[in-house]
Amino acid sequence: MNRIAILISGRGSNMQSLVRAVATDFNNTYKGACVSVVISNEPDAAGLAFAESAGIATHAVDHRKFPEREAHEQALIDIIDSNADIVLLAGYMRILSKLFVERYKGRLLNIHPSLLPAYPGLDTHQRAINAHDSNAGASVHFVIPALDAGPVIIQAQVPVQQGDDSTTLAVRVLDKEHIIYPMALRWLLDGTIQLDEATDGTHFCLFHDQRLTEPLQLDNVLNNEFPQNLQP
Ligand code: GRF
Repeated sequence: MNRIAILISGRGSNMQSLVRAVATDFNNTYKGACVSVVISNEPDAAGLAFAESAGIATHAVDHRKFPEREAHEQALIDIIDSNADIVLLAGYMRILSKLFVERYKGRLLNIHPSLLPAYPGLDTHQRAINAHDSNAGASVHFVIPALDAGPVIIQAQVPVQQGDDSTTLAVRVLDKEHIIYPMALRWLLDGTIQLDEATDGTHFCLFHDQRLTEPLQLDNVLNNEFPQNLQP
């Protein structure tokens, strides 16, 4: 389980950080994983050019060319299933059906630019500014059918500064995104994290086989501080 498909819709900076992390894995922390394919629903996505230049197979699968969502997703599935075991959403701007999400259960991650559960959906930075939040941030989570509602693995907090607008805030959040997404990927590859589902259907992230009751925080992880029951 070490071939990775990354789905993008645009710039692809998170995809680039993931590709770089895996490609420069001199200590084998990514367990020999490789990014085997990058797929965009937007044919003009800037990220495709980077992936091509890195020697990665790319596919533009324009959703507008399909009569309905299911047919578009089936085209994605055909590519993913013959190329990859893990699917990472990195700025992929289409909502995925339950069928798609359940097919890749436990091996499908997303990065979202807010401190989930705050601000699922779009315009996250502006919403944090409007609410006068002291911290914005980003979350990496397992994907479940409900939008931006899967169990969060790790978050990075970014203080909102006086005079921030959504652009300046987004730049600082993005820096942190590029750290936490490769980190979560590494944990997925080496089995440190897993998706767990309780009998009532609630989803949890297991970290070293223990349920996370709240997301890990980047600053704590960097200081090697983990909740008491989760000492690695
Ligand atoms: C990132 O902020 C990500 O969190 C969100 O969309 C943006 C994509 O940026 N889902 P990029 O394409 O990875 O540069």
